[in-house]
Amino acid sequence: MQQTLSIIKPDAVKKGVVGKIIDRFESNGLRIAATKKLWLSKCEASKFYAVHKDRPFFNDLVEFMTSGPVVVMVLEGENAVVKNRELMGATDPKQAEKGTIRADFADSIDANAIHGSDSIENANIEIAFFFSKREIL
Ligand code: CMP
Repeated sequence: MQQTLSIIKPDAVKKGVVGKIIDRFESNGLRIAATKKLWLSKCEASKFYAVHKDRPFFNDLVEFMTSGPVVVMVLEGENAVVKNRELMGATDPKQAEKGTIRADFADSIDANAIHGSDSIENANIEIAFFFSKREIL
């Protein structure tokens, strides 16, 4: 069993598609082991995305991620990291395969509906960023 972190971003929360996105996970063998809704501060978003701090899109990314509430989740299942990324589709929804979350719910590379950890190592770091051990069931 593996765990990974998922964030339903402000665009998808505003559109009211949280339930539809969660259904994609649950219908494909990923269990919700933890979840919470929160509004990230600029400081939290900058810290979470620190790996991108020198990229030209960093300021826009932080601005966008703090533009409204997000829903963060720990997903658990076999090969959860890879499976989640398959379900999400490519970062740029224009490149995302038909039937993926980003192809169906995202508008642009900035407002791309969802974030998912890209490796087991980063999943552990990202999960610990949002959740304590006792919040993960
Ligand atoms: P996410 O998976 O949350 O990780 C970093 C985010 O930066 C990414 O999704 C995109 O929403 C955003 N982003 C904006 N421009 C780019 C880009 N050129 N390459 C990668 N990510 C980008």
